[in-house]
Amino acid sequence: MKKYLVIGNPIDHSLSPLLHNFWIKKHNIKAIYEKKLLEKKDIEKTINDMKDNKIQGINVTVPFKNLVIPFLDELSDIARKTQSVNTIFKRKNRLVGDNTDVYGFTEAIKLTSFDPKDKTVLILGAGGVVPSIILALKNMGTLELILSNRTKQKAENLKKSFPFLRVINWGETIKSDLVVNATSIGIKKNDEIKLDYSKLNSNLFYDLIYNPPKTIFLENAKKYGKKIENGKNMFIFQAMKAFEIWHNIKPKISEEVKNLIK
Ligand code: ATR
Repeated sequence: MKKYLVIGNPIDHSLSPLLHNFWIKKHNIKAIYEKKLLEKKDIEKTINDMKDNKIQGINVTVPFKNLVIPFLDELSDIARKTQSVNTIFKRKNRLVGDNTDVYGFTEAIKLTSFDPKDKTVLILGAGGVVPSIILALKNMGTLELILSNRTKQKAENLKKSFPFLRVINWGETIKSDLVVNATSIGIKKNDEIKLDYSKLNSNLFYDLIYNPPKTIFLENAKKYGKKIENGKNMFIFQAMKAFEIWHNIKPKISEEVKNLIK
């Protein structure tokens, strides 16, 4: 029986086991996918379990996407550019860190009617997932990328890897074609991003959060008649790509799959 894991802290909320085990069953693979709550000091041990073939693949979530890197043998090009690993697999007995978040966000945006080419995008947040969002948007031809984060220095630091970024103050509004919430505000009920929504002229408001399905950020945007999208499709697409990497099968995103993630 092959074993796969998602590691993070917290991890209780993760819907990855639900999705992966659904596809594992669908394709008659002898495997199980579990979630594991980790402390930082236990990362190395868990990764060593993969070296010892006790585990065949690992998904990595907050706050370990960067912290796993020192324990890996290789990084994919995208993982290196983003310094963010969400999928670990083995190739020729070497542990490879890969990043399927960039693919996930790209495919999710393609499903909306919004084309980022030559557009201006405002990203709220500067946490672990943000380099993936930046790389995805840049690859899709975004003209201007503006970053706003409570801790401004963290946004400024991202300029080292992505010098084209423009940083504005937290709470400041600016004209853009798309606004992406990449902060964790909204996961907790009644948690709200304080912004003058009337001054944000974007057509599309995108929240990486998918649980709850409609954050206050999206509700506010809706009040102003904007198009809204949550992070559900991104989540499904990043999982699909990880599944393909491990099992060499591209699973289907059926209605049944979409209904699993509620
Ligand atoms: P990490 O920063 O450890 O990578 P994350 O969950 O990936 O963690 O990122 C959380 C993001 O949400 C950060 O951009 C964080 O802003 P700070 O960098 O200032 O911490 C943002 N965030 C979380 N709670 C927030 C709040 N109450 N107000 C404003 N921003 C908040």
